Amino acid sequence: MEYFDTHSHYNDEAYDEDRKEIIGQIYKEGITKTVVIGYNIEKSKKAIEIAKENEFIYSAIGIHPSDIGKTKQEILSQIKKIKEMASNKKVVAIGEIGLDYHWEKENIELQKFAFIEQINLANELRLPIVIHSRDAIMDTIEILKNKKTPQYSGILHCCVLNKDLIETGLKLGLYISFAGPVTYKNTKNTELINLVPDDRLLIETDCPYLSPEPNRGKRNDSRNIKYTAQKIAEIKGITIQEISELTYKNAEKVYNI
Ligand code: NI
Repeated sequence: MEYFDTHSHYNDEAYDEDRKEIIGQIYKEGITKTVVIGYNIEKSKKAIEIAKENEFIYSAIGIHPSDIGKTKQEILSQIKKIKEMASNKKVVAIGEIGLDYHWEKENIELQKFAFIEQINLANELRLPIVIHSRDAIMDTIEILKNKKTPQYSGILHCCVLNKDLIETGLKLGLYISFAGPVTYKNTKNTELINLVPDDRLLIETDCPYLSPEPNRGKRNDSRNIKYTAQKIAEIKGITIQEISELTYKNAEKVYNI
């Protein structure tokens, strides 16, 4: 069985000691494609570097809402750098970008500005976007629907089980990606996964974070994606083989690989 892990962070410090080994290992164990996701300038550069060194790895670059500058001017200069880096062939998306009111609520207007400007950039570059939305469902929907709609599709990454968000995403032509939390015992509304048609479903690890059960709490890597796939297969009433195949195809389509 082969898997496409649509969202990984092998650019994170958590892998500084054993990055090469882990990357070799995941490929051997069937994760034959992944996109390493940037979240600031430095980590976007690192994502490209890793993608250049490994044929089966691609990169997304962008500024996460927790890493944006303190002024509009600073944000625009960050985005200018991202634009320059996007000419690299292994860059397949702009992300992760979006809104995060869990860690910071003081700069909501700046977060919205950075999100909208980066959707603009993706539209200009004809790239899909990778969306991070935490404790900000209403504003995420408002921006995607009424302020700036991604024209080359995108992914609701580590999507929360919220009917409005999933339905809005689907209406706008986005793909819905689920991660480890769907395996957690206290996660509610997992039946909402059934709202996502087979041709829009994706899976990811978001590693090193969010290890699925039974490895919850440990450092995550792409090999754990099978547990998330298994859980979704159970909910949808299909085989894990079918999940691996359909999510692989969908990932290649949204990222144009
Ligand atoms: Ni992430």
